[in-house]
Amino acid sequence: MPLLIVMLVFLLSASSYSCKNTQKSYVTTKSTISQSGGLATAHPLATEVGIQILRDGGNAVDAAIAVHFALAVVYPSAGNIGGGGFMMYRDKEGGMYALDFREKAPKLATQDMYLDDNQNVIPGLSTKGSLAVGVPGAVAGMEAAYERFSQLKDWNKLLEPAITLARNGFYLTALQAEKLNKKKSTFVEINPAIESPFTNSKSYVEGDLFVQKDLAKTLTAIQNSMSEGFYQGEVADKLVAQMKERGGLITHDDLQAYEAIWRDPITFMYKEYTVHSMPPPSSGGILLAQLFNGVEAHDFKGFHSTEDMHRIIEVESRSYADRAHFIGDQDFYSIPVRELTSKSYMAERMSDYDENNATLPDSTSHGNIESEETTHFSIVDQAGGAVALTTTLNGSYGSSLIANGGYLLNNEMDDFSSKVGHPNLYGLVGAEANKIEPEKRMLSSMTPTIVEKDGQLYMVLGTPGGSTIITSVFQACINVMEYGMSMNDAIQSCRFHHQWKPSEVFYEEDCLNPSIIKNLQSMGHTMKSRSPIGRMEGILVTKDGYEIAADKRGDNHAIGY
Ligand code: GLY
Repeated sequence: MPLLIVMLVFLLSASSYSCKNTQKSYVTTKSTISQSGGLATAHPLATEVGIQILRDGGNAVDAAIAVHFALAVVYPSAGNIGGGGFMMYRDKEGGMYALDFREKAPKLATQDMYLDDNQNVIPGLSTKGSLAVGVPGAVAGMEAAYERFSQLKDWNKLLEPAITLARNGFYLTALQAEKLNKKKSTFVEINPAIESPFTNSKSYVEGDLFVQKDLAKTLTAIQNSMSEGFYQGEVADKLVAQMKERGGLITHDDLQAYEAIWRDPITFMYKEYTVHSMPPPSSGGILLAQLFNGVEAHDFKGFHSTEDMHRIIEVESRSYADRAHFIGDQDFYSIPVRELTSKSYMAERMSDYDENNATLPDSTSHGNIESEETTHFSIVDQAGGAVALTTTLNGSYGSSLIANGGYLLNNEMDDFSSKVGHPNLYGLVGAEANKIEPEKRMLSSMTPTIVEKDGQLYMVLGTPGGSTIITSVFQACINVMEYGMSMNDAIQSCRFHHQWKPSEVFYEEDCLNPSIIKNLQSMGHTMKSRSPIGRMEGILVTKDGYEIAADKRGDNHAIGY
């Protein structure tokens, strides 16, 4: 029997849950219209899992939980149980909820844990291996979402697809095979004693079956005992033992103390739209408000016109300067949220705006009152309930440390400010507000966002991309609201990004008109092309139904029903 058929027979017969996409390569849909909802995620199999849960009577939260666990299997570079994230949920009556399941610093963490005796940052300590790992929040987050909002009330069912995909394997996409091969030497370096599909000597190609038996067991423990299956018992014992052996800080006490938190969303008006996004420890909602407020008075001229780009760049620069100074975990640091998100603050902030010249980033400071991985999915259910969920290990495959239990551990500690003014993985700088403290949540840029128009659901979106997340979400919204684009066009369009420091305006390679680049350069902007920015998933309510769009920048897949 040819190998492919053997594999298919094996997959289908051994599987108590079957996905349609069991062929060795995947066909992805980037845009679709649906009358009853649907979803878009970073991987075709995760999208299939979500649509099945919706078809079986689950609501958007049920689908989100199943998709989150499935992504931990089929999208291990960012999907996770060893990381954390944020969920925005709008129920069918319009109630809006923000769930924080961000990682926390271990209780033994200290402000200068990444500094040498001369107070210099030790390279790699906050990004690779055991010391980089924050206390994971994902499993507690999924349980909190389930307890409060599940319609199915069937936890087993929500875990089953992920367990099946881990136990029986799934076929790698070309992109995934390439990424795994690139990372192989780091996995081997960080995990010399572990046998796993991440560290074996095989060079992967598209269509290879990726089996994660240990992960299946860990997921089964979570299926059997919910979050206790992760934060207590054998899975927790193994993680704590590994931390002890490898010089990490996470203890049983840290794991048992972890709690996901429901928070008040950041909500603001932009023209006829009401925008809801994530509050601290994400900077996303606050910065999104600043960005919108900073362009509200602007007379938009056209997509990627010099005038519009210049204004947006200048607003982005000022907002990121504020991020660096003012924003951290609100449970530890008092953040002037009302001031930062007020229209008058941003009007004042833009008072030195020069429509002909760039404000040099070095002269732009905070106001007077602060390898991009992660993954996002957007879901709307049949009743109109909507979820925007962004989740992460931070860098690609997090700390590269594989837990004894087959899952990747985050390197989220790098999102703290290791030292005032020292750039993190994404070039972001920070200060007092985001310094390391025991049990504190590190500042994030993740921006899961839900927009209403006339009180009705209008848009659900978000993206990975580290520091570029906020500007990408903002630009996609502006593409729809100001330039009249479809969700698909808004997502596929070229993006650019400025974050105050470094001083460059980054733009995606080969996608801006050279004359616009010249114009911006002559105004004083330093323009720098770069690799693709983000992988966005969005849903827009249109007169024809829900327009569900998945980013062309990857294997992302949209389905309606
Ligand atoms: N780890 C990326 C972020 O949370 O912004």
